[in-house]
Amino acid sequence: MYNSKILGMGHYVPENVVTNDDLSQLMDTNDQWIQERTGIRQRRWAVKGDGDTTFSMGLKAAKNAIRNSGIDKQDIDFIVFATLSPDYYFPGPGVQVQEALEIDTVGALDVRNQCSGFVYGISVADQFIKTGMYKNILVIGSELQSRGIDVSTRGRSISVIFGDGAGAAVLTREEDTTKGILSSHLHSEGKHALELAAEAPGMGKRWVTEIIADNDPEDMSYRPYMNGQFVFKNAIRRFSEVINEGLEVNKLNVSDISMLIPHQANLRISQYIQKKFQLSDEQVFNNIQNYGNTTAASIPIALSEACEQGKIKSGDTVVLAAFGSGFTWGSVIIKW
Ligand code: UT7
Repeated sequence: MYNSKILGMGHYVPENVVTNDDLSQLMDTNDQWIQERTGIRQRRWAVKGDGDTTFSMGLKAAKNAIRNSGIDKQDIDFIVFATLSPDYYFPGPGVQVQEALEIDTVGALDVRNQCSGFVYGISVADQFIKTGMYKNILVIGSELQSRGIDVSTRGRSISVIFGDGAGAAVLTREEDTTKGILSSHLHSEGKHALELAAEAPGMGKRWVTEIIADNDPEDMSYRPYMNGQFVFKNAIRRFSEVINEGLEVNKLNVSDISMLIPHQANLRISQYIQKKFQLSDEQVFNNIQNYGNTTAASIPIALSEACEQGKIKSGDTVVLAAFGSGFTWGSVIIKW
C-alpha cells in the first residue's frame, strides 16, 4: 500500500467582482447584514458571455494545478470532478475536462456531494492511489452558483452567500506512508436532504414533459432552498466531530494542527470552530470574505491560496473539513 500526496494546487475565479453594495441594488439587503451574518464582503459572479462555466473554470484551475505540480498532463491517470452546478444535467463535467486536456481515454468520475464534494473527491482519489491502481489523479471542485440563484429579495438569504469559482489538486503516489494523506473520514445523513437542496430538474416528482408544460416562472423547485439556522447548527456540530475523528485516528492533538482549511460556508462557522478548538488566527485559513461560499470549490480555492501565500510548509499537518447539503460532511488529515 502507498499513500497519496498533493503535488500541486491551482484555482481560477471569474473576473467580475460583486460587492455587498452591488447586491443591495438588486434586493432588499445591505453590507452590514451580510458582513455581520456571514463575513462576506464580495464574491465573484461570472458574467453571461464571458465564457465561464463550471467546466471551463474547472479546466482553468486544473491547468494551474498541473503546472504547479510539474507533471506532464499525459501522466494523469484519472479525473475526479466535484460540483453541484454542472454544465449539463448529464454527462458531468469530468469527461469535458478529459476531452479539453487532450489526455488519453482516462476515467472521469463526477462527485455529487455539494459542499463536501472536494473532500469526498480527495478521499476517492486517495483510495485509488493507495491500492496502486493509479499514480496521478486530478481532483477538481468547481461551481457556477450565480446562474441558479434567485437574486430578488425572495432569495436573499441564499443568494448573498454563494459565489462562483474553481480549485483543483494533482495527487500523486507517496511511497513514505508517514507522509501525504494520512486519513479521510466521510459521513452522510440523508434524512436532512431537503433542508439544503434544489429539487429540480430531478425527476423524482414530475415528468420532464410536465415541467416543460408548466413553464412556471414562479417555480421555486429550480432554486436552492436552505433552512439556514438548522444547517448552521448541524454544520458546527459535524465540523467539530469530524475534525476530532481525524485527529483521534492519527493520535494527533489540536495543537498539532498547522493549518485548518474549513469549507468556507460562513465566517461565523469557521470562527466558532476556531474558538472551540482554541486555534490561533494563523492555524485557520479563511477567504470567504473575498469569494463567498463556492461550495465544492471553496476548499481547493482556499488551499491553493494558502499554498501561494506560503502558509503551508513541508511537514505541516493540514486538516480539511467540510459540511453541506445531503447532509454530507468529511475531513482529510494531511502530513504536507
Ligand atoms: O455551505 C453549505 C452549508 N451552509 C451553511 O453552513 C450555511 C448555514 N447558515 C447560515 O450561514 C445562516 O443561516 C444564513 C447566513 C444563511 C442566514 O443567517 P441567519 O442569521 O440564520 O439569518 P436568518 O435566516 O435567521 O434571518 C434573520 C433575519 C430575517 O428577518 P426577520 O424574520 O428576523 O425579520 C431574514 O428575513 O434576516 C433577514 N434576512 C436578511 N436581511 C438582509 C435574511 N437574509 C437577508 C439578507 N439581507 N440577505
